[in-house]
Amino acid sequence: MIPVNEPLLGERELEYVTECVQTGWISSAGRFIEEFEEKWAAYCGMKYGIAVSNGTTALQVAVRCLDLKPGDEVIMPTFTIISCAMAIVESGGVPVLVDSDPRTLCMDVSQVESKITPRTRAIMPVHIYGHPVDMDPLLALADKYRLAIVEDAAEVHGAEYLSQRSGNRIWRRCGGMGEISAFSFYANKLITTGEGGMVLTSDPRYAEKARSLRNLCFKSERRFYHTELGYNYRLTNLQAALGLAQLERFDEIIAKKRWIGQAYTECLKNIEVLQLPVEEPWARQVYWMYGLVLDESTNMDAVEFAKRLLALGVQTRPFFLGMHEQPVFLEQGLFRGEQYPVAERVARQGLYLPTGLALTEMQLEQCCEVVRNVLGAYAVR
Ligand SMILES: Cc1ncc(COP(=O)(O)O)c(C=O)c1O
Repeated sequence: MIPVNEPLLGERELEYVTECVQTGWISSAGRFIEEFEEKWAAYCGMKYGIAVSNGTTALQVAVRCLDLKPGDEVIMPTFTIISCAMAIVESGGVPVLVDSDPRTLCMDVSQVESKITPRTRAIMPVHIYGHPVDMDPLLALADKYRLAIVEDAAEVHGAEYLSQRSGNRIWRRCGGMGEISAFSFYANKLITTGEGGMVLTSDPRYAEKARSLRNLCFKSERRFYHTELGYNYRLTNLQAALGLAQLERFDEIIAKKRWIGQAYTECLKNIEVLQLPVEEPWARQVYWMYGLVLDESTNMDAVEFAKRLLALGVQTRPFFLGMHEQPVFLEQGLFRGEQYPVAERVARQGLYLPTGLALTEMQLEQCCEVVRNVLGAYAVR
């Protein structure tokens, strides 16, 4: 079976992890953590990096930095992982949803302004499956209504957005465009520390608060005395060692991901019933996952499609299910009666193919062949 993700770790990772073991710096202090934080922040165009235990906790810490008051609203896409909405709810806020752009699957930015109310405090763009959100309209709204932008960049390490605000054309890295951002370094991410995450910001107050929240809100002047509740969300030096090693060859990693994405598109582009990932002219995407949306005219949904692909040896994963379709939120009285047709359709019809860094050309071709076989008559060669 071809797995949906297989990470690719190298000699450098082994060397750095071995150094941790040999020197005993295996916990949440050590040279790799600071270096990883500094280098990743600088790469994304931010001043500070605060490494945490995973992407979910990164979002939680990022949203806590906003000091939401109960009932404050944060606008976010329905089509994302639950971590985003959870971070808002846990901070006392209310997630307010928008639908997806049918091409990029990222939030439909044209729907955001109509959702702004006097309670809105922030917008949370989530870059989906490697493709950036169209950020300029959101940055303009943030200025106009004095809102914070909390970027969820968990799926877009190294992706870039062509910002054309005030007449300048500048390529900006995802995770470096808002006040604060969150990354995940889970095993299927472009950079992985096994489990891991990072909060980035250029605001020293957010950085200080995020560092404090990560470490139980200990006070530097009086250690076991607390004026706020925090968490133990520390990353270990062992984990940071892995991340730093990959950052050193990150150009290569991006090149491999882009090759995977472009090779899949070349192989599958003639299958009319498949919607393939796009790359908008203002985006440089990194194909974190190669997602397919199957046309409803096939009378097959993603569950059935996945079953047939698996039977022929190709493992896949289904797309996200929108937040407005989550029983846990509906039971809390959130999103009742709300409908987001694009997110609903792609959740039903979408899955992603094996896209891990260890994927070989032969495996990729095999995956395409299996897709063609399953789609049979629809697959125009
Ligand atoms: C968009 C997005 N945000 C946040 C997360 C959470 O990251 P983690 O799994 O490291 O908690 C993920 C996980 O894949 C994600 O896809």
